[in-house]
Amino acid sequence: MPITLTWTGHATWLIETAAGRLLVDPFFDGCPTASMKAADVSCDAILVTHGHFDHVADLVSIARRTKAPVLCAYEIANWLGGQAILNSVPMNIGGRVSVPGGTAKMEMAFHSSSLPDGTYAGSPAGWLLDLEGIRIYIAGDTGLFSDMERIGRPQAGRGIDVAILPIGDVFTMGPDDAVEATRLLRPRIVLPSHYGTWPPIAQNAGAWAERIAAEQLAEPRILEPGGAITVSGRPTAVPPA
Ligand code: NI
Ligand code: MN
Repeated sequence: MPITLTWTGHATWLIETAAGRLLVDPFFDGCPTASMKAADVSCDAILVTHGHFDHVADLVSIARRTKAPVLCAYEIANWLGGQAILNSVPMNIGGRVSVPGGTAKMEMAFHSSSLPDGTYAGSPAGWLLDLEGIRIYIAGDTGLFSDMERIGRPQAGRGIDVAILPIGDVFTMGPDDAVEATRLLRPRIVLPSHYGTWPPIAQNAGAWAERIAAEQLAEPRILEPGGAITVSGRPTAVPPA
């Protein structure tokens, strides 16, 4: 079954499979470029990369209203527990759990992580999702790191179908390192994220995409907030009759 990925702006993504909808890093009402309001979001699970406000601003309200499980660092789960959000799934780097449509593995990221009230939020993370035969890597907020080669290494013949990478610079990788990240990860499709929200992280995504395409590293796709792409799995070999 194809999967639909919608960028609602900044680093917030909705990933829709036949089995349910995943919400990544809910940041809507305070986001200048958000394509929708937190009150209008429905989801079956919430994935959090780290504790910074531009990734969790609407986490508590959406978790409370939808009662969707929140996959997040152990420390963030504790912080949610203090606000009576008790359906979180505390995790740490390397852990893999089930989500609607497949699995989610918490991967490493090089960044910092504290919650808006200053609470320590554990390690920042990325997510490696295996959903209905499609592998999606969400880097989260991170600088470039050489383990991206490992993350992109095919497992059971399956490499990354879609990589979502920050290109905003200043707080994360910028365009140059996001080109190198694409080279290491070897995804089929690459999508830029975490840019254009405020002046310090304004970027020319089109120019970045041209570099990705010119070097034939992946198929770059540029979305506007509210835009979506639908991804199908790689063709699989037909078993002999
Ligand atoms: Ni951050
Ligand atoms: Mn951020």
